[in-house]
Amino acid sequence: MIDLTVEELKRHFSDNIFKRISETADELGLECYVVGGYVRDIFLQRPSKDIDVVVVGSGIAMAEALGKHLGRGAHVSVFKNFGTAQLKYYGTEVEFVGARKESYMHDSRKPIVEDGTLEDDQNRRDFTINALAVCLNRARYGELVDPFGGIEDLKEKTIRTPLDPDITFSDDPLRMMRCVRFATQLGFYIDDETFDSLERNRERISIISKERIADELNKIILSPIPSKGFIELDRCGLLELIFPELVRLQGVETRNGRAHKDNFYHTLEVLDNISKKTDNLWLRWAALLHDIAKPATKRWEPRVGWTFHNHNFIGEKMIPDIFRRMKLPMNEKMKYVQKMVSLHMRPIVIADDVVTDSAVRRLLFEASDDIDDLMTLCEADITSKNMERKKRFLNNFQLVRQKLKDLEERDRIRNFQPPVSGEEIMSTFGLSPCQQVGVLKSAIKDAILDGVIPNEYEAARAFMLQRAEKMGLKEVTNR
Ligand code: CTP
Repeated sequence: MIDLTVEELKRHFSDNIFKRISETADELGLECYVVGGYVRDIFLQRPSKDIDVVVVGSGIAMAEALGKHLGRGAHVSVFKNFGTAQLKYYGTEVEFVGARKESYMHDSRKPIVEDGTLEDDQNRRDFTINALAVCLNRARYGELVDPFGGIEDLKEKTIRTPLDPDITFSDDPLRMMRCVRFATQLGFYIDDETFDSLERNRERISIISKERIADELNKIILSPIPSKGFIELDRCGLLELIFPELVRLQGVETRNGRAHKDNFYHTLEVLDNISKKTDNLWLRWAALLHDIAKPATKRWEPRVGWTFHNHNFIGEKMIPDIFRRMKLPMNEKMKYVQKMVSLHMRPIVIADDVVTDSAVRRLLFEASDDIDDLMTLCEADITSKNMERKKRFLNNFQLVRQKLKDLEERDRIRNFQPPVSGEEIMSTFGLSPCQQVGVLKSAIKDAILDGVIPNEYEAARAFMLQRAEKMGLKEVTNR
């Protein structure tokens, strides 16, 4: 957060577009302010995005007049139902809205809207840091209007609602998610009273669409330290309502002096670890879900202790239901997350043992182009507090990575298609599609992955003929 004098703040509004808004507003005799995220982000030195302008009067009339004023290159879209208008001008987007007063019904996010003053408009905003306004009228150009101490809260890194938080959250419960999201994105604290209100109003989240909740969740996941958001969501009880599978990962059970780790905190650690390495949202999702089936697969085996057999495969199967319910995309993104979750144990198992060519080749075959992401996930998954153990794993991962590189150069396994196709098998032996074709095909694949034969056509064909003979198949064509 930086301190800015009026002069310095004015300089942030020196772009032509602000000057033209100012002139138009003065011509129409309307008060006009830039508000919300754009102003907040100037003080936070974050890249500013779209510009929101509040007009005390008609936002639509203002946008239309400005459009005429700017002439060519300006495009105005009017949304009569919302009383807003959007102006696009050479890559810049400005949203105009008339200052408004809002009142809400209990069961809807859609407010009853009346014209209002700037103060009414600031009152209806979600957080003090989002209620800052900068005047654009010539006489007060660059003047900051901050009735709720938003600047102080930016300094103190605090998320606080301008009004009684019970009103702000109950009016629009999406703001509860936004509250946790801003705290996580910006590394801010949630003011105590605001936090208590999250707890009290959490059930109201039920009137919010799943898509909007998922949007906020994705923003939390894409934050620098996403665990912070999940811990806050859990602490106020929202997590149980929007993502109960994660809450079920919590807890430590001890039997005969043997405890398993708390899989909730482990998962969050893995998510934070991976977030230092990648901004790929879906790889971060894979980290969040990698152990999701641990509660479902947990067993006590007297000779071994706690086990979670097949939690990777059961986890893979749980993902479509979770994605469907949360309205996340049911497409190749989900399939990628499933693949990561199902394979997440493999490099660890390899690294825990002698790292053989054949195991690494098989891994490369299954992960194909996603192999680097899988390795990133596995490295993030090493959260052992035992430094010796952690070092051993990470060293072995280096070895796996090196082997992957060597084998890839030598054997071209990534995206590998067996060099003898099913069609060729059928035509060679006069077969129609049947089990024998599949058996031969996998035998060739296995021989290549196990390093019995090289990944080459001649060797694969010779191997096929040999194996077919043992199966009693006769060649019907000559090549
Ligand atoms: N706003 C609000 N309640 C909401 C959504 C938005 O009060 N549920 C207000 C806030 O003043 C916010 C402004 O509308 O600053 C613009 O909203 P939006 O563009 O969604 O958020 P930004 O604050 O710009 O931040 P981001 O783009 O990161 O979402």
